[in-house]
Amino acid sequence: MTQLTQGHPIASLVEEDGEALSFRVHRSAYRSQEVFREETARIWGHTWLYLGHETEIPKPGDFKTRTLGGRPLIFCRDSSGEIQVFLNACTHRGTVLCRFGEGNTKFFQCFYHAWAFSNSGELAALPGDDAYADVDGFRERMRLRSVPRIATHEGFVFIAFDPDVPDLLTHLGKAAHYMSLTARIGPAGMETVPGVQLYAVKGNWKLAVENAMDGYHFAPTHNTFVGYLRETGFAVTDDDQYAYDLGGGHGLLILTGHNGRIGMVWEPRFGETERERTVAKREEMVDRLGSELAAEIADASRILFVFPNLLLFDLEALTIRQLEPVAPDRTDVRAWQFVEVGEPAEVRELRIKTMVSFVGPGGLATPDDIEAYEAVQRGIEATADSADPAFDWSDMSRGMANERQGNQGRSIDEGAMRSFWRHWATVVGRD
Ligand code: FES
Ligand SMILES: [Fe+2]
Repeated sequence: MTQLTQGHPIASLVEEDGEALSFRVHRSAYRSQEVFREETARIWGHTWLYLGHETEIPKPGDFKTRTLGGRPLIFCRDSSGEIQVFLNACTHRGTVLCRFGEGNTKFFQCFYHAWAFSNSGELAALPGDDAYADVDGFRERMRLRSVPRIATHEGFVFIAFDPDVPDLLTHLGKAAHYMSLTARIGPAGMETVPGVQLYAVKGNWKLAVENAMDGYHFAPTHNTFVGYLRETGFAVTDDDQYAYDLGGGHGLLILTGHNGRIGMVWEPRFGETERERTVAKREEMVDRLGSELAAEIADASRILFVFPNLLLFDLEALTIRQLEPVAPDRTDVRAWQFVEVGEPAEVRELRIKTMVSFVGPGGLATPDDIEAYEAVQRGIEATADSADPAFDWSDMSRGMANERQGNQGRSIDEGAMRSFWRHWATVVGRD
């Protein structure tokens, strides 16, 4: 049996044996407080994290608050139009500063002692400032704390709490290209639809990653949706669907077999008008991007995972999904719809309707998936402290023999999960 990495013992929770074609993950990786603490420190504290898309805060003064790696943040556009990301904690005594989820403001005022900070971080109002020596120096020292690193790729804004992380494109590696494919769909660019779907899942965050990278569950778990597709005249197949290890823990499924996509691959439920638009859209993309890139964008659906907290679903509808671990058995999920800037209202409507019917929180797919990973979490609790320790491992060896023969991994195998777990073990195992 080979332990993947030396160093911290948590790395030994992932076991791979290339000879015996076995790959398994110890279930304490999903339920232990210690693992959760180490992940928060070693992963969330030292890598790029997806924060949000710049079109979520289009106007000066727009802001959103959200939490990454357990730290509350303010994501805002300052009055000069620059994107700023601050720790959402008053520099005076630490009170959470902004208690709204979103809005537009020039100032963030703390309710405790009424200090007020401008949207570019200066301490603008300090009640009773004559009680402080060197007021100007004090104000400067007490400005809002920015996160150490902020960088953007194709409008996707990432932050890091570690100032020494390598630059964002190095972190994204091959995943950057697939983000660009989705970002180039619209001739006038892409934007997020206002509003977010926010839901809490009673499961470990890594189960959400596994679920997204797991084509094996599609037919059995989503059999209602698959039946619906068949009834509306669309074929469903697992042929020519593959999984790719993009390095750095990032993974990709490329799917040609099961779903139409608005503007890309027409299917009967989209209606006749959309059929004509799909043909015109392809011509527009070929003119703008060339036939090769247009085909790469249009001919297959993609599910992209960017380690550790971003999922980009380029399927029937385009969905950006962010994972925020709250506890070993609790994950907050945020999802946004990603659309073409300036597309006709009826296309936008069709897109939203299609999203709601499948990947929306009340659609035909997402509730199945949430039930699956909550059920996994409950089952994982059941095998803790088993008399036979072998029961307390989850198997992820599907498709290893096929890969060993040099074949590209299939989406219905577990190769994308294995590459995620290998990287996870490397990161949490680092001394
Ligand atoms: S803690 Fe914010 S003003 Fe005192
Ligand atoms: Fe699913």
